[in-house]
Amino acid sequence: MVINQMKKIKIFAPATIANFIVGFDSLGASIEAIDGSYLGEFLTISSDEKFKLEITGKYAHQLPQNPDDNIITKCVENFHRQLANKKITPQNFSLILEKNLPVCSGLGSSASSIVAAIFALNIYYDKVFSDEELLVLAGQMEYIINGSIHYDNVAPCLLGGLQLITSSAKNKALPWFEDWFIIIYYPGIETSTKMAREILPKNIPLRDAVEYWQNFALFIDALHSDDQKLAKSLFNDELIEPHRAKLIPNFDLACKTSLEHGAIAFGISGSGPTCFAIADSIENANKIQSSLELNMPSNEHAFTKICKINKKGARVI
Ligand code: HSE
Repeated sequence: MVINQMKKIKIFAPATIANFIVGFDSLGASIEAIDGSYLGEFLTISSDEKFKLEITGKYAHQLPQNPDDNIITKCVENFHRQLANKKITPQNFSLILEKNLPVCSGLGSSASSIVAAIFALNIYYDKVFSDEELLVLAGQMEYIINGSIHYDNVAPCLLGGLQLITSSAKNKALPWFEDWFIIIYYPGIETSTKMAREILPKNIPLRDAVEYWQNFALFIDALHSDDQKLAKSLFNDELIEPHRAKLIPNFDLACKTSLEHGAIAFGISGSGPTCFAIADSIENANKIQSSLELNMPSNEHAFTKICKINKKGARVI
């Protein structure tokens, strides 16, 4: 089969918070800034005579200059390998990535690029793959880039909302407390996910593992039973956070000031260095944001934003 039409499609793929404090490698949320700014990557795909990739956007300089080394190119190659199984002839096109998320930030920057690419390609090829197949493709790309398969960024980025996801890509969209806010705090430095995984213990005592999964199970139940009080009592991570907090400038101070200003919880977004606080009112969210800004490292790249969990995921713009 040959698909041969002139097309131009623009995709948006949102930033995400993986782990969500209580669900290491198993929970992830798609977020949007309440000020209307786009927190995520744009990708435009247009029919062309040969393959071209252009990178624009605030963080374009952080990516490899050679297109062959870029995640997007690797996604295209992998996508085309999968198309061959379906007897579809690959097309040529030009791609423009607008890189709006800082790399290695803990905001799912690479996942957002991966999802933008495979979601755009799938639409370009008339939805040849289902959402489930796209998720598996996205997981493969995470493996190629980070050396481990974890779906807790790509799943919420692709599907939106708060997602429960297993290592075999089985997922469930979870309910969330619509009136809660997420305040993100990016300290302006890079942390490699690969390194932040390598510093974690390879084995954990059974007692600690039991405690973690009991807490996680109860959290999922609190969401389903709309029990805010119970959920608030469960934001606790003694398994991962103590190891990674050391990599984050001002972690303890940011945590303390957020809690003092009414945060329900404070934790690390994905593998960091971005952290996030949760608030149950816009008044507290504003207070937490101001307090975080007062205590931020003096780093021109650092920023904070008040967000909400967004149900939409990747979409055509
Ligand atoms: N769950 C992964 C980790 C997410 O924490 O290593 C990385 O963004």
